[in-house]
Amino acid sequence: MPNIYRSLINNFPNQLITFDDPGLDIELVKSFSREGEIYCEIGSGSGGHLIALAKKNPSAKFFGFELRYKRAYRTIEKALKENVNNVFILRTDAELLSSIFSENSLNGIFVNFPDPWAKRKQQKHRLLNSEFLHKCSVLLKSPYGFISVKTDHQEYFESFRELIKQNNAFRVLEETIDLYNSHYLSSNIVTEFEQLFRSKHIPICYIKLLINTYSQSQYETCSVANI
Ligand SMILES: C[S@@+](CC[C@H](N)C(=O)[O-])C[C@H]1O[C@@H](n2cnc3c(N)ncnc32)[C@H](O)[C@@H]1O
Repeated sequence: MPNIYRSLINNFPNQLITFDDPGLDIELVKSFSREGEIYCEIGSGSGGHLIALAKKNPSAKFFGFELRYKRAYRTIEKALKENVNNVFILRTDAELLSSIFSENSLNGIFVNFPDPWAKRKQQKHRLLNSEFLHKCSVLLKSPYGFISVKTDHQEYFESFRELIKQNNAFRVLEETIDLYNSHYLSSNIVTEFEQLFRSKHIPICYIKLLINTYSQSQYETCSVANI
C-alpha cells in the first residue's frame, strides 16, 4: 500500500524539510539556523519531546531528524496546531548532521531511545559510536554544548558509557541507570517510546555530557543551560 505521508509531507514546506533535493534543502536549513540557539534531536519520532522543548524555549530553534514520513508529518502537524513555530523536521538520515550544521554551532543534541540494534551482528548500525561522538564534539558550541541520551537498553547504555571513558572530548554532567528513581526526573520530558517502556516498568538510563573545555573548577563557577 502506498505511504500517504510521502505526499502529505510537502504540505509544510517551511517546517518539514523533505530532502527530495538535498543540496537545496541543506541550504534552506542553513538559512534557518544562522543565528540564535540551535538544538537537534536525532530520531525525533512523533515529536512530543521536541515540541515540549520548543514551547519551553520559544527563542531557540529545534531541528528533529526523522526518517519515517508519518512521524515527521505528525510532528509538524501537531506543532503548528499548538502554534509552535520553532520546530523543524528534517525528513532524512541523521548521517547528514555534519553536512547541514557548521562547526561550533549547536547548543545541544538529544538522542532519545535510539534503535538498540541488540544482536551482535547488528551492532555496527548503532548510532551511538565513536564517530558520532567525534561529530558532536565538532558541531557543539564550546564551552556549554551538550549531548543528552536516554535509553531503555542497559547494555547499549553501558557500551556508550565505555566509549565516553575512552573519549576525552566530553565530561559526564548527569547520569543514572534509573531515571524514575533519580533527582533528574523533575526536569525530564517524557517521549512517546518512553511512555511505552514506563508502562512495562522498564528502567530508563539517562546521561548528559558536556563538551570538555573547562577544568572542573571553572565549570563549578558557571551555570550550564538547563534546558
Ligand atoms: C525507537 S524510536 C524513538 C523515537 C523517539 N525519540 C521517542 O523516544 O519516542 C527511534 C526513531 O529514530 C528514527 N531513526 C532511526 N535511525 C535514524 C536515522 N539514521 N536518522 C533519522 N532518524 C532515525 C526512527 O525512524 C524512529 O522514529
